Amino acid sequence: MNREAQRLETFGRNVPDVAPDDAAAPHHRLLQARRSALGAVRLAVAHMPSRLRTRVAAELLADPHAVLQAVGARLNRMPRLSEMPLDLEPEGRLEFEDLAGLFASSILNHGVVGMSIRQVAYIFGLVRRTGARTAIEIGRWRGGSTIALAAGMGPEGTVWSIDLGEKAARVLGIDPEELDAETRAFVQRFGLGVELIRGDSRSVDVDVDEVDVVLIDGDHTYEGVRSDFERFGRRVAPRGAVLLDDAFGDALVPSHPESVGRLVREVTASGEFRLVRRVDRLAHLERASAG
Ligand SMILES: C[S@@+](CC[C@H](N)C(=O)[O-])C[C@H]1O[C@@H](n2cnc3c(N)ncnc32)[C@H](O)[C@@H]1O
Repeated sequence: MNREAQRLETFGRNVPDVAPDDAAAPHHRLLQARRSALGAVRLAVAHMPSRLRTRVAAELLADPHAVLQAVGARLNRMPRLSEMPLDLEPEGRLEFEDLAGLFASSILNHGVVGMSIRQVAYIFGLVRRTGARTAIEIGRWRGGSTIALAAGMGPEGTVWSIDLGEKAARVLGIDPEELDAETRAFVQRFGLGVELIRGDSRSVDVDVDEVDVVLIDGDHTYEGVRSDFERFGRRVAPRGAVLLDDAFGDALVPSHPESVGRLVREVTASGEFRLVRRVDRLAHLERASAG
């Protein structure tokens, strides 16, 4: 089986079997429905003769609409307003970020930011509502999550954003400075406080002891995410937020339960941090106390 056929066969396989709490139950039912739809696709593909499967895989990759129109309609059957997640629990006036649950988004239509609309709305709303002023980010890629943090905090905030720059070269074949120049121009235009740091998060220094928020979305190996958590996650103030992307899977994107998920399980079991909320693939941990 060639690589395209293999990718198609594992498509959607990573939906977690979690025992959800009440808040996550509608989302979990949605994931189960998605899993059924994707399971049917996978079964059909698995029973095709291998030459036909290779041909189908090639056709689908050449014409993504063939996939999107068939799978997209199946994925979009379940959402109901009564089950729309209100991640930030609004009490008064609804803000735009409270409406994020109206939308569907996935890696198939990610733009500048590598996260779902719901995740970005949560990050923006969280820093805005908690009055956060300082944040460390590991993994900025094209600067989308950096802007979400910085814009949420406003001009009084500062984001220290660390990135190795390896993805720019690997995926786009460009110098990472090209992406950083665009991020720099954007934050200057809107008077936002962002320090772009190029380096390996396992060794680079950041000159700040305590921050309100740490967003970890860099090296997704266990050693990498553990190091980011130890070096930067622990700098979060008591009641501050550590946000880890890719801790949980969804129907379309394989996550990292063996590394990011494992770290979340370990630090919550130790009692130092508690899991406040799961927002799509993102884990929001709150530091229980100083130490
Ligand atoms: C998934 S992308 C980040 C996406 C971004 N947070 C967003 O939502 O748009 C991961 C980034 O982490 C960076 N990265 C990977 N390993 C790293 C390391 N050891 N130190 C710093 N950055 C790293 C990569 O260069 C890449 O830009």
